[in-house]
Amino acid sequence: MVRFSDIDGIRGKAEGQDKNADHRSEAGEFRVDDTQTHTEELVSEELVAESASPEVAGLYEKFIGKALETRNRVLSNQGLSPSPILSDLHHIINNQLIDALYEYAMSDEADYDELVVQNVDVTFASLKIGVGMGYDTRRLLELGLAAFLQNVGIYRIPEQILKKEGRLDKSEVELIRKHPEVGAKILLELGSRYSWLVEVVLQVHERSDGSGYPKGLKGPEISELASIIGLMDMYVAMIKKRPYRQKILRPNAVKYIIKEAKGQFPPRILKVFLNQISLFPVNTCVRLNNKSIGRVISTDKNQPLRPIIMLLYDGLGEKVGRRETVNLASNPLLYIVDCIDERRLD
Ligand SMILES: [Fe+2]
Repeated sequence: MVRFSDIDGIRGKAEGQDKNADHRSEAGEFRVDDTQTHTEELVSEELVAESASPEVAGLYEKFIGKALETRNRVLSNQGLSPSPILSDLHHIINNQLIDALYEYAMSDEADYDELVVQNVDVTFASLKIGVGMGYDTRRLLELGLAAFLQNVGIYRIPEQILKKEGRLDKSEVELIRKHPEVGAKILLELGSRYSWLVEVVLQVHERSDGSGYPKGLKGPEISELASIIGLMDMYVAMIKKRPYRQKILRPNAVKYIIKEAKGQFPPRILKVFLNQISLFPVNTCVRLNNKSIGRVISTDKNQPLRPIIMLLYDGLGEKVGRRETVNLASNPLLYIVDCIDERRLD
């Protein structure tokens, strides 16, 4: 888990508008009217923002239920049972539901305890990276289980410390930094069959450059599964709203990780992260170089900086009355200059 206070110092950078984004470039300003835009109704499935199926929503809720149960069992000193978790993970992997659950998890603003939601969201986010790494089913199951149980130790830390606003004092920081070891101790009770799991959970907060904890391990000393979970734990914590702060826009969180935290994770994992996590995912609101504003409705992995946009406001700030789309892939003079928070639109 990443407390926001850990990244508070860089919030301005991550949330700010990157005036030097590399994709902002060459062209002068011009009106949307001057470019190829599409005004037809969006009928193609790929142009419609994905909406979650009842199955996906149901599976997400099921995992939330499992995470709540896990917390209750930890708090009441009852043993944990990985088998039912593995069984549901197997269903998701076999039925290729990882992408859908990942998107649902990232957009869901469910009003559950944030630690529980974080565990579930990091599970699906880690699985998405696992797919990008080319993992087979067995490895994905290990990754999913470790991500789901990585934070069990934190349930033993008093809530007033976890939810404290502002800076933690030294003793509170030390207590939080003990949660991987506390979690490992809880998982040791699963027996030698799960010794790999104990190892991964111990290392989720270790960082390649030695800046992590509890041991300050470096580079290849850290398990690959732990690095993936650690990266996605950081990313998910940044892009989700918390009671004490607003969320950071996804592209800004990605930019922060690539710029400021890249030494903390293996290059191969960061590369997969960039490939798997869209900079401008569906539903992101963006400003174009001609000052018009729109919402991303479709993305193309081959042209990640050039999604299809549904226009909301034209370059003069007027609301666009009818459904009008711009395919940036076929409009080379138009490009995204900024992501904007939808709440600031009205
Ligand atoms: Fe943690």
